[in-house]
Amino acid sequence: MSDKRPIGLLDSGVGGLTVVEEVIKKLPHEDIVFIGDEAHMPYGVRPASEIIKYTREMVEFLISQNVKAIIYACNTATARALSTLEKEFDVPMFGVIKSGAQSAVADTKTDDIGVIGTESTVNSGSYPETIAKVDDKIKVHSIAAQHFVKIVESDAADTDASKEDIAQTLAPLKETNIDTLILGCTHFPMLEKQIQAFMGESVKLVDPGIETTNVVKKYLSSEAMLTDNQQSGKVELNTTANLDSFKALAKDWLGSGISEINLIRIGD
Ligand code: DGL
Repeated sequence: MSDKRPIGLLDSGVGGLTVVEEVIKKLPHEDIVFIGDEAHMPYGVRPASEIIKYTREMVEFLISQNVKAIIYACNTATARALSTLEKEFDVPMFGVIKSGAQSAVADTKTDDIGVIGTESTVNSGSYPETIAKVDDKIKVHSIAAQHFVKIVESDAADTDASKEDIAQTLAPLKETNIDTLILGCTHFPMLEKQIQAFMGESVKLVDPGIETTNVVKKYLSSEAMLTDNQQSGKVELNTTANLDSFKALAKDWLGSGISEINLIRIGD
């Protein structure tokens, strides 16, 4: 048995492409449909009700594209919308937070884990809660690094101002005993080099998108839902605004593997 329908992924913007990249690597024959809601980005400063509304519109779009599963390639949508929306739709949905928390718990030796994410993700307390369920003796040190999203979206990772900003924001983590840092926003793997340079090699960076993709692969395989296509899958990207900058960042990040990039309208 096989299932040729595409895998759907959603995010507020280009950050979700870090998860798309993982899916292409681990499931190269699968078709992919991605949507980034650039029209309403950033999600991390919005009230939960709006994050739920906009995420619901992306889920409806992906379902209209006949996807077989949806990956929330967005920590903020995972923290604020997943538990509501999985009750509303039948399609299997996967968030990034549980997998990210589990990976970090498996990695830490000091039992001190750092988390950086958007304001909304950090305020939701989702990471500390999920980590405590796995191991309640672990101390979690969270920092909201909302403005890192803008650094990524404006393609400014390598400027001096951004490096300074990263250093200032992460400085309090240097005062802790963390040996593991969760990049709790899918935009942040695009700053991995700069974050690693500041934190030093003794701190392991955890990208929740990586473990999430392993979980999705296992699920599709156990449900006989992997495609039996032998050629490379099609990668269709959609954005609700900012087509030119989205295109440029997508090409930088994913190279020539993209089949099409569209500007679309969703919702009302
Ligand atoms: N990439 C998103 C996340 O993982 C959200 C960034 C934003 O829109 O604030 O949380």
